[in-house]
Amino acid sequence: MQSEDILMCPGPNDMSDRVIRAMMRPAAAPATEEFQELYERTLDMLAQIYQTTGEVVPIPGSGRSGLEAAISSVVEPGDRTLTISNGHFGGVAMHIINGVGGKPEALQEPWGSVIDMDAFATKLASGSYKLVTLVHNETSSGAVYQAEEIARLAHEHGALFLLDAVSSLAGADLRTDEWDIDLVVSCNHKAIGAPIGHAHVVVGERAWQVMEQRSTPCGTVFGNLMTWKSQVDPSANSGRTKKRTYGVFPAVHLFYAMHEAFTAVLEEGLAPRFARHLLNAEAFREGVFGLGLRPLAHPDVASPTVTCVQLPEGITSSEFLYHFRHDHGLFTLPGLGDFQDTAVRIGHMGVTATPRNILHTLHAFDHILYRLGHLHDRGAGIARAEEIYQAAEQAAPVTV
Ligand SMILES: Cc1ncc(COP(=O)(O)O)c(C=O)c1O
Repeated sequence: MQSEDILMCPGPNDMSDRVIRAMMRPAAAPATEEFQELYERTLDMLAQIYQTTGEVVPIPGSGRSGLEAAISSVVEPGDRTLTISNGHFGGVAMHIINGVGGKPEALQEPWGSVIDMDAFATKLASGSYKLVTLVHNETSSGAVYQAEEIARLAHEHGALFLLDAVSSLAGADLRTDEWDIDLVVSCNHKAIGAPIGHAHVVVGERAWQVMEQRSTPCGTVFGNLMTWKSQVDPSANSGRTKKRTYGVFPAVHLFYAMHEAFTAVLEEGLAPRFARHLLNAEAFREGVFGLGLRPLAHPDVASPTVTCVQLPEGITSSEFLYHFRHDHGLFTLPGLGDFQDTAVRIGHMGVTATPRNILHTLHAFDHILYRLGHLHDRGAGIARAEEIYQAAEQAAPVTV
């Protein structure tokens, strides 16, 4: 089966041709010096994307595999944790905490709302929490949150801070070291544009110490981050003093693709890449308003990578998505939870965050709404988006 659909998805996202081509290579044994060098270089590049000098552990699997490794490594049976939950994915961390015997609690707030910092500070002060977790970019509601102040407060109360950056990495500014985050988890197949199959966890010094001081053994071997910790090795090459260990046999071809995807991100540059995501997200949101629709997230927390669009009354997400794919060659997913039937989620991340895809998507919205009998100002969505692009061009003219 081959799909020619454009994935305007909140994940997985499209991959560039150069990333796909990077996998067209013969098999190689991970033990070779060449592969080991590529492995180290790939993870060094990934650390730059996470804006950290700390260690990035590559965990095979999807975003959940990374979350499970991070949580299982630091949470012991009976440990209390606090999750800020403004959407569906906060619950994923709580589910895993529960699974390892921890006692998860939530600061539950409406989906897409701004975090109530006073409520958070009060809740944090009311208990003795080992870990605080936050979803950086809530893929269910299309909201992005500031992590720095949450990290500071968590540390003030002696808790570790874990940030789920699954749908923000390489699409939204994520300053792991500057914001002093202990554990950051993300994966390949969202804004970074690499194939599904790898999560990554950045581990800071506080988190390593907590792992070293566990009073019960970690219940997983492969997901135990200590298994992956780099070791001092005089034979490590390219000026390094440490060598990463393999927790499992590396997925050689995924590493070829990751090397290419991370190279592309760094070639573009983090600041221009974040600006590109912000611009295309703004153009899309304005287009949505032009069509008379509303994003779910509060404007103060509107995400640069995902917009959850509430459909007009009488149009269900399943009929909308049918036409989106079959008439326009665009694929995406419905809302989650209470919004499953009434909203659709658009990913504008990685290679899909371009005017071509945004304008195509807005045209599809315009046409589908019309076809399904919704009265709106036809063409107004695209016109509003074009105004945003024109204003950006005037502010920084493109030189050819
Ligand atoms: C914010 C967030 N966290 C966690 C996950 C789970 O990741 P995965 O589905 O790759 O296991 C997702 C998936 O969409 C997500 O968006």
